[in-house]
Parts: sequence; C-alpha cells; structure tokens
Amino acid sequence: MTDTLAHAGLDAEVLRRDFLVLMAGALGAVGAASALWPFVASLNPAADTIAAGAPIDVDLSPLQPGQQITVLWRGRPVVIRRRTGEELASLQAPQDIARLADPASLAAQQPDYAKNWHRSANPEYLVMVAICTHLGCLPGFEAAGSAAVAVDNWPGGYFCRCHGSKYDLAGRVFKSVPAPYNLPVPPYHFVGDATLRVGENPPDSRFDFSDIVQI
Ligand code: FES
Repeated sequence: MTDTLAHAGLDAEVLRRDFLVLMAGALGAVGAASALWPFVASLNPAADTIAAGAPIDVDLSPLQPGQQITVLWRGRPVVIRRRTGEELASLQAPQDIARLADPASLAAQQPDYAKNWHRSANPEYLVMVAICTHLGCLPGFEAAGSAAVAVDNWPGGYFCRCHGSKYDLAGRVFKSVPAPYNLPVPPYHFVGDATLRVGENPPDSRFDFSDIVQI
C-alpha cells in the first residue's frame, strides 16, 4: 500500500475545493463526527488517536439525499454519500455498467458486505476511501452531465483530474482510464438508525483493510 495524503501530492487548494473534512472527536473508545454538516469542523485533541486507527462514529442524520460528507479515518478521506433513487438506478443501468472495468467488484477492494451492485452495506449510503487507485490523487464528485468530465451521458460520479480516471457513484472505475481498480471500501457498520461507525466491521465479518489490493 502507498501512504495516503503524502502520496496524493495535492495542495491545500484542491483539498478545500473537493472535500468537507470532518475531523472526528472522541467519545470513549471511539470518535464521533456529529451533526456538523455542512460545516467544516475543527481539530480536536483526539485527532492523534483517530489517526492511529480508532474507529469513528459519524452522525448521518443531517445528510440529505444527494449530499455527502468526508471524514478522515487513518489519515485517509472517507466519502459518505447519501445516494438518491436516481443515483442508485444509474448503478444498475446496462449502458452505464458497460463502461466499467470491474462492475462486479471482483478485485479485492472491499469487504464481502460491500461486494454487491451498490458496493455498500446499505444501498442508500456509499462509504469509500476517495483516493485514486492510479497514483493516489483525490477524485472529486461531479454531478450528472458535468462538462468537466469529457464523457457523453456522464451519470455522475467521481473524477480524478490528475490523469482523468473516472469512477461511478459506487466507486467503480471506468474502462480505459489510468486507474486499475475500484475505489477501496473501508470496514464499517451501522450502530444506530443514523450512526455509522467507520473502521470497524459488523460482528460477523473479519475483513482486514490491509488486504485491499490497491490504495
Ligand atoms: Fe488519479 Fe492518476 S492519480 S488518474
């Protein structure tokens, strides 16, 4: 694996443009990124603990369909997007699937509970590490039809401006782009109706993030 943000090589301006970064606070053994959307939270004393790999809890209740937040887990940006029905439909559209390099997520870039058509534990929520699998830049969200992405009928997804790699709304990489793999999915599970714990598997899973092929 490569080191994350140092490898990304992007300046602060790119980070500001593409991400709302929530540095999570600690609550007991785990951190908590609470109802801060859409504001950027401040650092807190637990940041070093979080960077060391502690799970973080994220309150999803302020997140509306079509919105996303980014939290840091082990120093990596984890995008959490609440997908709309239209976005979910695009993940199953044959004309969109045909443009993907690994639509069935055969490469080990996710836990088993995200090896499905929506690459997630709950279809409504996308959870993925937003680091390009080419050389580690940070892909940004581009809405459907965005002119920034030179693709006919762009369905919406993530676009890496470094060398043009494209990913759909499940982090699945397009064919004929530099990036070889889908975006990684971290361990996570829901611990409440609207609380997501990033960095910890559900009780019945032994997924190890270090087994990810490429990050
Ligand atoms: Fe993303 Fe090269 S780093 S396309």
